[in-house]
Amino acid sequence: MHFFDYRGNRFYAEGVAVEKIASDVGTPCYVYSAKTLVRHYRAFDGAFSGVPHLVCYSAKANSNISVLNTLIKEGSGVDIVSGGELYRALKAGAEPKRIVYSGVGKREEEIEYAISKGILMFNVESPEELRLINRTAKRTGKRAPVAIRVNPDVDPKTHPYISTGLRQNKFGIESGQALKEYVYAKRYLKNLDLVGVDCHIGSQITQLSPFVDAMKKTGRLIATLRNEGIDIRYLDMGGGLGITYSEEAPPHPGKYGREVIREAEGLGVTLIFEPGRVIAGNAGILLARVLYTKENGGKRFVIIDAAMNDLARPSLYGSYHAIKAARKPKTGEEFEVDVVGPICESGDFLARSRELPPLKSGDLLAIMSTGAYGFTMSSNYNSRPRAAEVMVDGDEYSVVRERETYRDLVRGEKLKYST
Ligand code: LLP
Repeated sequence: MHFFDYRGNRFYAEGVAVEKIASDVGTPCYVYSAKTLVRHYRAFDGAFSGVPHLVCYSAKANSNISVLNTLIKEGSGVDIVSGGELYRALKAGAEPKRIVYSGVGKREEEIEYAISKGILMFNVESPEELRLINRTAKRTGKRAPVAIRVNPDVDPKTHPYISTGLRQNKFGIESGQALKEYVYAKRYLKNLDLVGVDCHIGSQITQLSPFVDAMKKTGRLIATLRNEGIDIRYLDMGGGLGITYSEEAPPHPGKYGREVIREAEGLGVTLIFEPGRVIAGNAGILLARVLYTKENGGKRFVIIDAAMNDLARPSLYGSYHAIKAARKPKTGEEFEVDVVGPICESGDFLARSRELPPLKSGDLLAIMSTGAYGFTMSSNYNSRPRAAEVMVDGDEYSVVRERETYRDLVRGEKLKYST
């Protein structure tokens, strides 16, 4: 459930007409709904209210510090994958003891930064990383809390680019080898605290069975580790719960919660989750204006001022985002069109063969379900300044990231011979 809908014939973000935002701030522009973020967070967190747990919102989905802060104020921790995300999380007010750090390629300076801030744990993805974290902790006179990210070899049945828990993926360590690494670390890597087991199998998962399979495997590993005298306190199940973009019917967080709690019974761990999309995905829209319409080879094109640099998902994954006109169409008449951006590639489309009401230059559109992996995946391709970001809360809104300027585009660049 989200708070974007028509009131009369105008499209609103909570209590603010999107036309008002577009005329004040310009387009393209991301608009986030604070109430939707909070509602989604509470639905997810509430699903685990009966058991010890920590929800660490996954910053990669949407890392605007205002989005992070909205969730942190609700009690959320943060899942990070880089020094940059750690910086943002701290700026947004996250407590280091509620931050988990995942990712296959952490650099030494990033590891040192996270150790110095005292994060809850590193989710370690390779034997070499485990040793580097130990050395870095030792060099800085600290201990580092770690979990090993186990690759459970389950098929999350999602897009191949966002499926991470299969054996052939680059993520995590196979569970047999993970066991050996825990035993080795206990014996020799004295600056590590072996506090957790971690597992993340993919994203936009719309069935429960892959999560249950992954939990069974990690549960067995935790039991074996206990026998080895390694007392695991945290089981981090990652993120991945899917959302409705179009026709998908993913399980409600409450149902996911019940299954996960059942599987975790008797493990004696605090559960950690890293949801991103399920919190932020339907809490954001992208506003864009129609620049031109035209017909080529019998095909109708609607050219808008947002492009694949603003929203990469359709081009990259062929993903579907609903499109709404800011003014409700008067008739039910629709035409099949391709909605495309100004970028010089045929892959630059926001929607293909889509039935939409008649559109003309100047019309405002809302591209739905773009709160997760929208702005965070945007780029400056074709030297397009990145979009503004706006947060609505009730009847008010604020610009939470200004639109980039041409000057921003060349920041740090130099002519070759200038000093
Ligand atoms: N934890 C880890 C270790 C992850 O790699 C991810 C996502 C998450 C948590 C959050 O997953 P979520 O709850 O959002 O599914 N750009 C793609 C999605 C990439 C997901 C990468 N990892 C997209 O636009 O669909």
